[in-house]
Amino acid sequence: MPAKSFIHIMGTGAYIPAKVLTNHDLVKMVDTSDEWITTRTGIKERHVAARDEASSDLAAQAARRALDNAGVRADAIELLIVATATPDMFFPSTACFVQKALGIKEAVSFDVSAACSGFLYALETAKALMESGSYKLALVIGAEKLSSITNWEDRNTCVLFGDGAGAAVLQKRQTPGGILSTYLRSDANHTDILNVPGGGSRAPATKAAIHMDGKEVFKLAVHKMISAAEQALKRAGKKDSDLALLIPHQANLRIIEAIAQRVHIPRDRVFVNVDKYGNMSAATTIVALDEARRQGRVRKGDLVELIAFGAGLTWGAAVIQF
Ligand SMILES: CC(C)(COP(=O)(O)OP(=O)(O)OC[C@H]1O[C@@H](n2cnc3c(N)ncnc32)[C@H](O)[C@@H]1OP(=O)(O)O)[C@@H](O)C(=O)NCCC(=O)NCCS
Repeated sequence: MPAKSFIHIMGTGAYIPAKVLTNHDLVKMVDTSDEWITTRTGIKERHVAARDEASSDLAAQAARRALDNAGVRADAIELLIVATATPDMFFPSTACFVQKALGIKEAVSFDVSAACSGFLYALETAKALMESGSYKLALVIGAEKLSSITNWEDRNTCVLFGDGAGAAVLQKRQTPGGILSTYLRSDANHTDILNVPGGGSRAPATKAAIHMDGKEVFKLAVHKMISAAEQALKRAGKKDSDLALLIPHQANLRIIEAIAQRVHIPRDRVFVNVDKYGNMSAATTIVALDEARRQGRVRKGDLVELIAFGAGLTWGAAVIQF
């Protein structure tokens, strides 16, 4: 029988485009106020990619930093998965563009589509393929240029989102630890409350902008992320008090606070950066994990839980021992 293997996160990296769009900038674009956005969402500013920057460009930058952080050469990567709701094109996959940018000669590269839960879906996919297959090193990336599908005249949605990318280098090892458990779910009864109706095979690209029923999404986000947090901890045989850090999807500070209350975890162990970036969909949890590691908030041996929620509906969690 082959020795049991464990999938570890060896390095992380993030790339946030330079241009900042503050709440005050948005006041000049739609009927809103800094006070409304701050009190309802906790967001103060978000970043917006340049016109000629696509999701794969953000992803490749984040990937280079993650490879650097892990001390791994790009051409050693055998499996490359990009989670994105804003691919460069219908095809080739964004992962193939990233592979090209990184100069990786041959790999298994593909995209995963699960909206804001995308990074966790990609992480579980990579873990399963690494455990069952021959891959030893993988790159898992969450990258979004949400500004490309934002209706800049819709105050209900345009204040909420931002662009960015985060990446993780995964390695299969014999040392216990790493990704201890994951938990993923989808409920397709709510495809109508958060979607981009146009630009696919059903409707033309003129309708390619985010549509959302914010109140419904809010309620379900709290409920589903709490359930995912509990399920993944249970699968890992851990309790919420074992967590050094909880990294929830960063869509709204009020959602994060509602989750923190239910998960019985002190506020200083709940990671928040929604104020700086808004909701970067699939990029959110991995950018947050990278930032937390750089801030020294994740030490060797620490237990960290990521939880996410997104259109689909999709939701999930992962418990990781560093
Ligand atoms: C969108 C969201 C911030 C709205 O907050 P809320 O507390 O539900 O807002 P309310 O329903 O109390 O207020 C809505 C009112 O504010 C108005 N409003 C919406 N956006 C506004 C803005 N940017 N500025 C000012 N007013 C705004 C609406 O037009 C509405 O006005 P009305 O009552 O006259 O119709 C909140 O519902 C939310 O965050 N939902 C989840 C979104 C999310 O997480 N999406 C991604 C999931 S991955």
